[in-house]
Amino acid sequence: MVSQEIIDKAAQLILKKRRVVALTGAGISADSGISTYRDRGGLWDRYPEGSSGGIMAVLANHPEDSREILTGVFDSIKAARPNQGHRALVDLEKMGYLRSVITQNVDNLHREAGNSCVMEMHGNIYRLRCLKCGRKEILERQQYFEMVAESFKKMDRVSLEDLLPGLPPCSCGGKTRLDFVAFGEPVQELAEAQAETMACDLMLILGTSGVVYPAAALPAQAKSHGAILIEINPEKSALTGQCDLFIDGKTDDILPRIVSSLKGIGG
Ligand code: APR
Repeated sequence: MVSQEIIDKAAQLILKKRRVVALTGAGISADSGISTYRDRGGLWDRYPEGSSGGIMAVLANHPEDSREILTGVFDSIKAARPNQGHRALVDLEKMGYLRSVITQNVDNLHREAGNSCVMEMHGNIYRLRCLKCGRKEILERQQYFEMVAESFKKMDRVSLEDLLPGLPPCSCGGKTRLDFVAFGEPVQELAEAQAETMACDLMLILGTSGVVYPAAALPAQAKSHGAILIEINPEKSALTGQCDLFIDGKTDDILPRIVSSLKGIGG
């Protein structure tokens, strides 16, 4: 159990700052039932080729498992709702501390929780991107999962490329694809994420192993102009050594406790 002293120390650091940015990874959604990647039992722990080639490499190497893998991914995202950690970040925004969330997650949970400035560097699995004109459209949950279920019915071997025929065309007539960033593709909103990183005076690093770039370079950029780094993770990550405070815990437990401590000291 993380001591109240550590919680209060984090709250005191945040109290002194007013330009807080959160950098989040799969760990913040773990408590919403979405598997992380590199933890024991995580997707890349089960399919190691994913760590360098992403889901497309896993599907290519395990075509016979593709339906089970994709069904597992989509079912967990369909069942997921924002948890206490996501909601605590909304509280920090409403209290005037948190400027923005930079996330590596594609599960839309920060937007659903209600943060108003969310940069999704690895895309958003609910969003479609037109391959012809580039137009993007976020589908609402019900429509999205009905579309995915229809696509799954249509094919004997499910793969993300196969999902393409089932995706609604763009209004321009172009084909669409899921707007997540596959390995080897450029990340999204990098300039915006870097601008927020340079503008912050404190970065919360929440639930990431810190091994995937360019997201993993942002904490060092924040530190380079004097920002404080606070990490919350039940295990040390590749970023822990750069941090001013490491809190060995789960985000859905620690973040609400920090918010309570801030409210207690009149923050
Ligand atoms: N609270 C906080 N952190 C947690 C929790 C939790 N409840 N559960 C797990 N973690 C931590 C793990 O200890 C680990 O450090 O979350 C981290 C998850 O690391 P990864 O699985 O590597 O996920 P992430 O860092 O988001 O991966 C980055 O890699 O494959 C790509 O595109 C994928 O966006 C992903 C990127």
